[in-house]
Amino acid sequence: MTSLQRFGVSMDDGLLEEFDELIARRGYSARSEAIRDLVRTELAREQSTAPDAEVVGTLTMVYNHHDFEHSGALTRLQHEHHDCVVCTTHVHLDAHDCLEIVVLRGPGARVRSVADGLVSRKGVRQGHLATIPVEVP
Ligand code: NI
Repeated sequence: MTSLQRFGVSMDDGLLEEFDELIARRGYSARSEAIRDLVRTELAREQSTAPDAEVVGTLTMVYNHHDFEHSGALTRLQHEHHDCVVCTTHVHLDAHDCLEIVVLRGPGARVRSVADGLVSRKGVRQGHLATIPVEVP
């Protein structure tokens, strides 16, 4: 059974007030659980930055389909990196813009490289990659 350790945290009034507002918005009932989640998130982020650490990631992109989709770059890049691209979801936002969510899996450096290759293409207005480390037995 895991034992719990208690420790004190010093924080100035303004920062603590903002923290309490944040955890209230997110629905935490206690500061301790919020701090544990923040620590877990940071530890996971640190793990997923190791170049060879296995990660899963979602790349969310908004692009103009006249400039990007019709160039064939999206399909070509996904075929080139088929071992890394798990699946995609496409949403037609309006007559011109599309939202694409690409699920990626592989070593962190490769996942980031594939995501960078997609986001840097002409027509991509915004792109954001979020990764989570995968425990490999
Ligand atoms: Ni579309």
